Amino acid sequence: MQIIDGKKVSSEVKEEVRQQTLKLKETHGITPGLAVVIVGDDPASRVYVNNKKKACELVGFKSEEYALPAETTQQELLNLVETLNNKDDINGILVQLPLPKHLDDKAVIAAINPKKDVDAFHAVNVGKIMLGEYDFLPCTPAGVMEMLHSYNIEVSGKNCVVIGRSNIVGKPMAMLLLHENGTVTICHSRTKNLAEVTKQADILVAAVGRPKFVTADMVKDGAVVIDVGMDRDENGKLCGDVDFENVKDKCSYITPVPGGVGPMTIATLMKNTLKAAKIQNNI
Ligand code: GUN
Repeated sequence: MQIIDGKKVSSEVKEEVRQQTLKLKETHGITPGLAVVIVGDDPASRVYVNNKKKACELVGFKSEEYALPAETTQQELLNLVETLNNKDDINGILVQLPLPKHLDDKAVIAAINPKKDVDAFHAVNVGKIMLGEYDFLPCTPAGVMEMLHSYNIEVSGKNCVVIGRSNIVGKPMAMLLLHENGTVTICHSRTKNLAEVTKQADILVAAVGRPKFVTADMVKDGAVVIDVGMDRDENGKLCGDVDFENVKDKCSYITPVPGGVGPMTIATLMKNTLKAAKIQNNI
């Protein structure tokens, strides 16, 4: 069993982005800029946003944070998105989800200029991914693919099972695995005999949002297990969707939480922002 080191792979990706950013500054005088919008005071979102800002500093981007109060109105948020759409020094716009309940996240995502949509959440970008002709890949699924590549884990012809069908992770994850010729199954809360399906998986991706949901009896011997969860266990300790301690000995590869998928999401965000800056400057 080998633990996939997301921190290490993420550092390598960020180093590559840092080098390319230096080059972009030298050759074109351009510094990529990312705007991160956070509404309200969800503690998990606060941590993510801080990590995104730190990563920007590391790779040499300009980053702007817009921290809005929980009672921000839909119109105020849409106005901010429009301002950022029109700001030349901002190449990427990320609105941290979830938004407070009174706000309509679909309308906010739809308002982002698709060329600045570094999360790849806008319908235009989702559609392009479906067609296999994309500029940006969704950060978490693309981060997972990057980890698989880094460990030379072949996807083609493998049984890939994704648990979870969210627009942010499950659905695009399935699509990226399909692009690499995996035989893909998506499971969800209505799936019958879940363990029977997951036991067929050569590559199992857990994106359910429930602590230690995937137990050893659900995993095939020698499987690659990817844990997208960011949950809290009964003691309030950070854990994933996979019961790591019991599952790990059955796997060929497994990602830990923390230090697995999480850092890769941010590394992809940096790649996307650099790409956005290049596209917007016709480079
Ligand atoms: N909330 C959880 N994951 C993400 C993400 O990748 N992007 C944004 N904007 N919000 C999130």
